[in-house]
Amino acid sequence: MSRYPAPALTRRAFLASTAASAAGAMLPLLPTSPATAATRDVSLRPAAGRLRLVTPGETAAWLYNGAAPGPEIRLRQGERLRVTVDNALAEETTVHWHGLRLPNAMDGVPHLTQKPIGAGERFVYEFDAIDAGTFWYHPHQKSSEQVGRGLYGPLIVEEPEPLRVDRDVTWMLGDWRLTKSGEISEDFGNRHDIHHNGRVGNTVTINGRVPDGFAVRKGERIRLRLINAANARIFSLDFAGHEPIVIALDGQPVTPHAPEKGLVVLGPAMRVDLILDMTGTAGIRAAVTDRFYEGLEYKLVDLVYDGTPVRERAPDWPLALPANPLPEPDLEAASRNEVVFSGGMMGEMVAEEMGETMGGETMEPGAPGGRMSHAHSMTAGMMAMMNSGAAWFINGVAADESGHDMKPMLSLERNRSHVIAMTNATAWHHPIHLHGHSFRVISRNGQATRHREWRDTVLLSPREKVEIAFVADNPGDWMFHCHVLEHQTGGMMAVFRVA
Ligand code: C2O
Ligand code: CU
Repeated sequence: MSRYPAPALTRRAFLASTAASAAGAMLPLLPTSPATAATRDVSLRPAAGRLRLVTPGETAAWLYNGAAPGPEIRLRQGERLRVTVDNALAEETTVHWHGLRLPNAMDGVPHLTQKPIGAGERFVYEFDAIDAGTFWYHPHQKSSEQVGRGLYGPLIVEEPEPLRVDRDVTWMLGDWRLTKSGEISEDFGNRHDIHHNGRVGNTVTINGRVPDGFAVRKGERIRLRLINAANARIFSLDFAGHEPIVIALDGQPVTPHAPEKGLVVLGPAMRVDLILDMTGTAGIRAAVTDRFYEGLEYKLVDLVYDGTPVRERAPDWPLALPANPLPEPDLEAASRNEVVFSGGMMGEMVAEEMGETMGGETMEPGAPGGRMSHAHSMTAGMMAMMNSGAAWFINGVAADESGHDMKPMLSLERNRSHVIAMTNATAWHHPIHLHGHSFRVISRNGQATRHREWRDTVLLSPREKVEIAFVADNPGDWMFHCHVLEHQTGGMMAVFRVA
């Protein structure tokens, strides 16, 4: 049996059941019954509203419970979460629980795992928090527009023994495209965004506000949970002489390490948990700068040293998080699947250039499991799809965003290890996300990765080859797509079937 539907027996539930037995009550011995697990109940109401992003002024947006981000959902590992969604939007929606390993029917993908929630309708999501970590939620219906208008929120699953820090802080990074009058630009899904790097906005927020300063105290240790909720913007954060230590990626613990070149990189949908020791001098302001786009560096926020120092030196408390119960892929026994991404502006050029390095081979459209054939990089089928508005292809196929009858591109044998060897044959970055599983990133351009990090979203640079590995232990049809939401709109998604 799959362990996904079964909630762990928490200490609280255990005590409750022992107490009940002691009292002589007839308690059915069903430790997996939702009635005996600690359940957190949450209500989410997506609706149009107004938001104060910048002072002064308000912006019409779409909000969960009147705010963007929506409420921070927090629960303990092993607890069960039940979320009642009342759709007060004027259109269909769903809620996807990004990065959580949950039963397929709770995954929130319209037409694939559920009927979309109609205007005025209700849907109840219910699942167990198997993994501790930093996750988030957002609609999976017309994602580019619904997320771009403000529908997203953080979901934090706490470790049974929280890591020792002075403060646990979430920064949900948002990126808005506002007009001169401060309204959300209505140009969702325009051709230019789809074919280039997506809807990169002009107003970056932390927790729904354009930030000025973030007050810190000298000597303080902060666990900073960064979540990139932007449609398309990639961040590369420089913490101004502070030395952040990465302790988790996409919610999953990693060997604590300093980020490469000191820069914390987050593609859309990605999360990074940092330990940040406030080693600056009392009274200073230190600018956190985003350096991802060359020539477009900007100050995200100032760390404002305020108040009395907490301590003189950084504490030497432990940094490592306990591992989550992830099945370890067996690389020897793994099946190997090739996935090639193509399309986008200048896509033909890059695919051809990479075709050379790949020995003149390109992917045959729709070839299951990545069969190779000698052909031109752009096939007649791809041409036809492009003429009908598709911009991006996975193994030569562009998906139709409505998601109606998507056929599985790969069938992955259940409980077996699989390697997905991905080639980014495009001129653009793509954060590639797999639903229902976390995977190890095992190599980049043929080089083994240093930390073999677990992720649910991996950022591929232009022309990069990345291998991931995982045990396909969660049955169902799962989305595999680019999290630049305009690339997803432009066809960059597929379904992996685990059976
Ligand atoms: Cu956060 Cu399919 O997405
Ligand atoms: Cu993409």
